[in-house]
Amino acid sequence: MTKSITIRRPDDWHLHLRDGDMLRAVLPYTAQHFARAIIMPNLVPPIVTHAQAQAYRDRIIAALPDGAEFTPLMTLYLTEDSDPADVAAAHASGLVKAVKLYPAGATTNSASGVANFDKVDAVLEKMAEIGLPLCTHGEVTDPNVDIFDREAVFIDRVLDPIRTRHPDLRVVMEHITTSDAVDYVQGAAQNLAATITTHHLVINRNHILAGGIKPHYYCLPVAKREEHRLALRKAATSGDARFFLGTDSAPHTDANKLLPCGCAGCFTAPNTLSILAEVFEQDDALERLEAFTSLNGPAYYRLPVNAATTTLTRTPAHYPAHVDTVEGPVTVFDPDMPLNWSVS
Ligand code: DOR
Ligand code: ZN
Repeated sequence: MTKSITIRRPDDWHLHLRDGDMLRAVLPYTAQHFARAIIMPNLVPPIVTHAQAQAYRDRIIAALPDGAEFTPLMTLYLTEDSDPADVAAAHASGLVKAVKLYPAGATTNSASGVANFDKVDAVLEKMAEIGLPLCTHGEVTDPNVDIFDREAVFIDRVLDPIRTRHPDLRVVMEHITTSDAVDYVQGAAQNLAATITTHHLVINRNHILAGGIKPHYYCLPVAKREEHRLALRKAATSGDARFFLGTDSAPHTDANKLLPCGCAGCFTAPNTLSILAEVFEQDDALERLEAFTSLNGPAYYRLPVNAATTTLTRTPAHYPAHVDTVEGPVTVFDPDMPLNWSVS
């Protein structure tokens, strides 16, 4: 049996760090295990402009523990008023690595997102021209569409038309949850990739709803049927360069998770690598873990692979059940299985 595995240092291609006290509480867990992360811009107010992204990056750097080696890769929040010239300048400066599309009302802090996709056409045109990737929260918000179908309908109604209109636009479908999304990525000739979260490799919708409701498993897009989880596992562990890790680690205090209308998000930063090693070992794919965590993402984002390495050892993982913040505890995602791999 393999006792240890050494991989290039991982990156997280989809991460929520929040701001202020929460940022200071959660950032050390990501900085411990990841060299870089694509930082989601859904703060209140959102990070829309070059100047806002610069200031947010400075706050993240200031919150890093002493000696940490971590580079935040900044994104802009796409609104119907986003300025193509400002987006292009943010990219040209090297600061901004992607633009995030939230359909208005789709998820946490998405009120400023896009309702009329025609209104962002000029920005998408500019992004296609300069090679700046678009990260999509791929769910329609039409109340007539069942929540478990919203990703598949988004592909047909929103994403495919955008990609047909802008064939040079480089797209990352974020946190995919369905076999429909896996098939769509695999069927594209170019300019399309997808991130997959840790938790969507582990839970299906039964884990959330059967035998009592589990608020800490509730995230968006919501986990789907088992057949979809298995499709995600197959894609993630296949080594296919179009699939890579985006944890979507999304901290909310327990008080906010356990409300009658609780927040969406799973906080996986502290134990993600242990869970992934377990998943890849279960699927006989440990030799392809590195592609998923450390190689495929940089290749799609046209960035160098990290020079440093990370060693995982086959020894039980220890991580906190909760992280304490000034606002209250944040529960760490429970994969409900023993984790036999630790980051050395
Ligand atoms: O579960 C989620 N949490 N999904 C999202 O799209 C947003 C995120 C958050 O910001 O909490
Ligand atoms: Zn997210």
